[in-house]
Amino acid sequence: MHLIETRDLSFTYPGGIKALNRINFIAPRNKRIAIIGPNGAGKSTLFKHFNGILKPTTGEVLIKGEPVTKENLKEVRKLIGLVFQNADDQIFSPTVEQDVAFGPINLGLDERTVAHRVNEALRLLGIEELRSRVPHHLSGGEKKRVAIAGILAMEPEVLVLDEPNAGLDPRSMRDLAEFIRSLTREYGMTVIFSTHDLSLVSELAEYVYLMHRGEFIGEGTVEELFEREDLLTSVRLDMPALPKLFGSLRRHGIDVPMAYTFDDAVRALLKAFGRDR
Ligand SMILES: Nc1ncnc2c1ncn2[C@@H]1O[C@H](COP(=O)(O)OP(=O)(O)OP(=O)(O)O)[C@@H](O)[C@H]1O
Ligand SMILES: [Mg+2]
Repeated sequence: MHLIETRDLSFTYPGGIKALNRINFIAPRNKRIAIIGPNGAGKSTLFKHFNGILKPTTGEVLIKGEPVTKENLKEVRKLIGLVFQNADDQIFSPTVEQDVAFGPINLGLDERTVAHRVNEALRLLGIEELRSRVPHHLSGGEKKRVAIAGILAMEPEVLVLDEPNAGLDPRSMRDLAEFIRSLTREYGMTVIFSTHDLSLVSELAEYVYLMHRGEFIGEGTVEELFEREDLLTSVRLDMPALPKLFGSLRRHGIDVPMAYTFDDAVRALLKAFGRDR
């Protein structure tokens, strides 16, 4: 049984915009899954179906094999933590600390457990020093981390991050990638994220869905999907520099292995120069 599965999920917004068309999605346990696609593809709309914010027009969303209903909605929200694309939609308490505590308090946890979870979430996101700040006055990247901490403090099994890297500086971006990796490796979580940044995808994703105009038009591992450069560029997504470079070298008959990540590239070059041991 999958944690999240959609079957022929379609959704039309009131007013008639058809945002999702027959989406079949599976989230296997303990994987990092990326959903990529240009603006307006339907990524955020899809994510809002994972925890019952939106209901399918047709088709179904199954969480651990069960459709989302009024009765199990609370349980579903505990299981699946969704961090919105825009942190302002999520942050509203007078201090960061209170904001991060909001979810755990709502789960009915006792004071000590709440305090422990808040501390742990602030530590994991590296924002302990923001504890007493007014969320409204934080920078975009800081707000983003507060929003993630608030959801993480509820200890969901699945963390859904809608464009977690938008607006982050390069160093914060690397921290974020390392953080997401640690969630699956050390905490056994499942992480689903959307992005336009294919270098984040090549560094992180174990499975990728490519979305365009409400449909999945490709899926597979990074290797499988990045082989289809035409498909990616046809929906205005840019191949990251490394796979582009190594693909091009290979097409010129240079005997190097393909490289998707920085580490791959170093290994490939060392091998090509006979320095691999
Ligand atoms: N509340 C709404 N009412 C009507 N149409 C909407 C609403 N929200 C989104 N849409 C439309 O649904 C489609 C999918 O939007 P969605 O926000 O899911 O895309 P996205 O892939 O998340 O895009 P982005 O990369 O810009 O975040 C778009 O055509 C959008 O205009
Ligand atoms: Mg979006």
